[in-house]
Amino acid sequence: MAEPTREELEAALRWLVEAGADEAVEKSAPDRFALPDLAAPEPPAPAAAPPAAAGPGAVERPSAPAVWTPDGRAPVSLDSALAAARAAAAAAADLPSLYRAIEAFEGCGLKKTASRTVTHRGDPASRVMLIGEAPGRDEDIQGEPFVGAAGRLLDLMLAYAGFERGQAYITNVLFWRPPGNRTPEPAEVQLCLPFVERHIELVAPRVILLLGGVSTKALLGDPRGITRVRGQWFGYRHEGLPAPIPTLATLHPAYLLRQPAQKRLAWRDIIAFKMVNRGDFDPLAS
Ligand code: URA
Repeated sequence: MAEPTREELEAALRWLVEAGADEAVEKSAPDRFALPDLAAPEPPAPAAAPPAAAGPGAVERPSAPAVWTPDGRAPVSLDSALAAARAAAAAAADLPSLYRAIEAFEGCGLKKTASRTVTHRGDPASRVMLIGEAPGRDEDIQGEPFVGAAGRLLDLMLAYAGFERGQAYITNVLFWRPPGNRTPEPAEVQLCLPFVERHIELVAPRVILLLGGVSTKALLGDPRGITRVRGQWFGYRHEGLPAPIPTLATLHPAYLLRQPAQKRLAWRDIIAFKMVNRGDFDPLAS
């Protein structure tokens, strides 16, 4: 085949940028046509996966199993990937083991296009847990959640509310950046959820703040949009937790950057969050 001309290469690059590609992940381009046959028989599922944590956070199962596993090392159906995620999460006895289990998990296709696995930042001993959506460009480069513009706004709001720098423990429902920051697929959220649930069990937070609609829907299972749910307290529960955890949903800092007038609502939420963390009131007391 003849070498592509400069014009053809530029046209291909323009097409990629328009399709949402905004950075190079590998040094050379993989040949997608040379990948193994996805219809090949499925490798055996891992043994003795524990039952799903039945909680309000259960995410609706998409009907078509679609786990992208070009290298053939990972499970090829959503069910076997989910079983692997549950087994790996349940086997993690402490936070460092959980980080390693997430890093080693091959069942979520997002890992193939992300450059880093992003698990957390902050102090788990603070027992103040914030859960966002997914790493963006800056997080994918630096390997920590909320380190870009939205993270700077979040840090500022936390500081004004009286949280010390690094005190709050921050994570996401997805550990890999969706290409071009697209909205995560339900199956991608579902595959990360066993790790998120185990994460919550191991941190045992006093309070949880959900940042934006994706984490709110994933963990609370509330079908309403974030603008309706924000500002309300929920008791987050699943099987592995001894008691419900006071949980507040608020607007995502990236949304606040686009809609600064909404900051007053988020500010109200952060103050309530701070008060509950301090023990000023119990939002779950009836
Ligand atoms: N947005 C998120 O939801 N999480 C991040 O880590 C960064 C931006």
